[in-house]
Amino acid sequence: MTGKGGTGKTTVAAALAIALATGGRRTLLVEVEGRQSIAQLFDVPPLPYEERHVAGAPGGGDVSALAIDPKQALLEYLEVFYHLGRAGRMLERLGAIDFATTIAPGVRDVLLTGKVYEAVRRRGPRTRPAPGRASRQARGAAADEGPVYDAVVLDAPPTGRIGRFLNVNEEVVGLAKVGPIRNQAGAVMTLLRSPQSRVHLVTVLEDMPVQETADAAAELGAAGLRVGGVVVNMVREPVLPEPALADAVAGRLDRAAVLAGLTSAGLGRRSRATGNDTSPGALADALLAEAAGHGARVAMEQRERQEIAALERPTYELPALATGVDLGALYGLAERLREQGMA
Ligand SMILES: Nc1ncnc2c1ncn2[C@@H]1O[C@H](COP(=O)(O)OP(=O)(O)OP(=O)(O)O)[C@@H](O)[C@H]1O
Ligand SMILES: [Mg+2]
Repeated sequence: MTGKGGTGKTTVAAALAIALATGGRRTLLVEVEGRQSIAQLFDVPPLPYEERHVAGAPGGGDVSALAIDPKQALLEYLEVFYHLGRAGRMLERLGAIDFATTIAPGVRDVLLTGKVYEAVRRRGPRTRPAPGRASRQARGAAADEGPVYDAVVLDAPPTGRIGRFLNVNEEVVGLAKVGPIRNQAGAVMTLLRSPQSRVHLVTVLEDMPVQETADAAAELGAAGLRVGGVVVNMVREPVLPEPALADAVAGRLDRAAVLAGLTSAGLGRRSRATGNDTSPGALADALLAEAAGHGARVAMEQRERQEIAALERPTYELPALATGVDLGALYGLAERLREQGMA
């Protein structure tokens, strides 16, 4: 899940992880930016570098989460491929781990995507089989083994960095001619480009995020990565019907009718305390100006919708929730994604 900063990547990634877990499946929600956004959203203590159950899903599903720490990932990597063990700890004391994970961003990104790759590929006993797997299980003991996760959802870096982030293994494949790093990087790239992987884009109906969405879709496509859906987040319903919106923008709304409405509602008088002019006339003018702004905004949103439609990707909409996003709201958003067929 990527998108412009602040458009709702973390929120939508979490909602999708719940949606995909619904009905008895298991999902893993992963973050890579070291900000503990998932823990905040699910209202749990900061996540260690270890998979933790964070939420159930309707119908018995299970959502786990992991905050990947690049340093820990590098130590793990050195252990797995070079059996470095204590030598790895020594590298850490020497500052080599810091060097590799903070100074060389390419290395960091290979480690982060490598960990996601490992989680996707991991197999193990399925203690809680997903529906439809019962028949496989009935065939014998070996059928108990399966992918540990039915889906892995990555709360990825923002659109500005997503191309480099996901394509970084390609760079490493080019750099290292042989050896475990090359093999690992090649395997990660193969997975990321396979039909098993999708890059979903989150946007809001504003100029910059939609532009970044279009740019990212083009960049990802050119890199051989598959763009999945576009999630239009924080959608607000217009508060005026269609003809009134156009009239508001053109300044054609009936001021006398607005005035009459204010008067009949008992609104509008000069405030002695503040000296603010809240006479019906001033209120009516303020409302008409606000309506014009709203009309202009709705028109802009229509243009943004057309831009999104031109991307020809499945599109899903999520409402702007007036109360913000708590855990309960997250389940509501997950349900909206399911209704629209994203999961
Ligand atoms: N549909 C929504 N309705 C209301 N508020 C929302 C909605 N989606 C997200 N938000 C709020 O908007 C803010 C940004 O959301 P979020 O953290 O998911 O974005 P992000 O793209 O992950 O941001 P960052 O780029 O900082 O990682 C949060 O406060 C979140 O609660
Ligand atoms: Mg985020």
